[in-house]
Amino acid sequence: MHNKIQIRKTALLATLAVLTITGCGKKPVKAVKPGSAADSVAVAAREEQLPFELKEGKRLYNHYCFVCHGEAGDGSGQYYGFSLTPQPANFTDKAFMKNLSEEHIFKVISEGSISVGKSNMCPPWGKSFDKEEIDCLVAYVKKFAGN
Ligand code: HEC
Repeated sequence: MHNKIQIRKTALLATLAVLTITGCGKKPVKAVKPGSAADSVAVAAREEQLPFELKEGKRLYNHYCFVCHGEAGDGSGQYYGFSLTPQPANFTDKAFMKNLSEEHIFKVISEGSISVGKSNMCPPWGKSFDKEEIDCLVAYVKKFAGN
């Protein structure tokens, strides 16, 4: 798993190097109409500038977590969100998130919500992800509340 991340990092650096050499990265971003095709290109370009940790966190989150927690992190996952009791945590709730340290979130992800005295509705992922991947998820989950 670690190697995979390393390879992706290398690929990313190589891409950045090519962009720098060809000067593509220096093109000024023009004002575009929201929702237009040009806008989705601009959005993609902005996302490209996310730090590696958040990009990886987002990829994993959108694969494993969003079915319950929702793409926007508000607990409204399209498949299970509102039908679960308790509802999946709302990561956009700043007051709620302020009380969840990175260590706490790390523990929830690796050992499940039951490991922190809550229900058993958030599954343990410790066997699916390595430490680096969980760190990426923690960073991405924290970002929903802007911290
Ligand atoms: C099957 C649905 C489901 C999936 C998939 C899921 N969760 Fe959860 N998650 C929940 C529910 C439900 C809760 C609320 C548990 C509670 O409060 O007892 C929760 C709570 C949490 C919490 C807050 C725990 C706390 O202390 O209040 C975190 C952090 C979390 N999930 C992260 C994740 C991450 C990261 C993933 C993906 C790797 C994920 N969850 C996948 C259902 C899910």
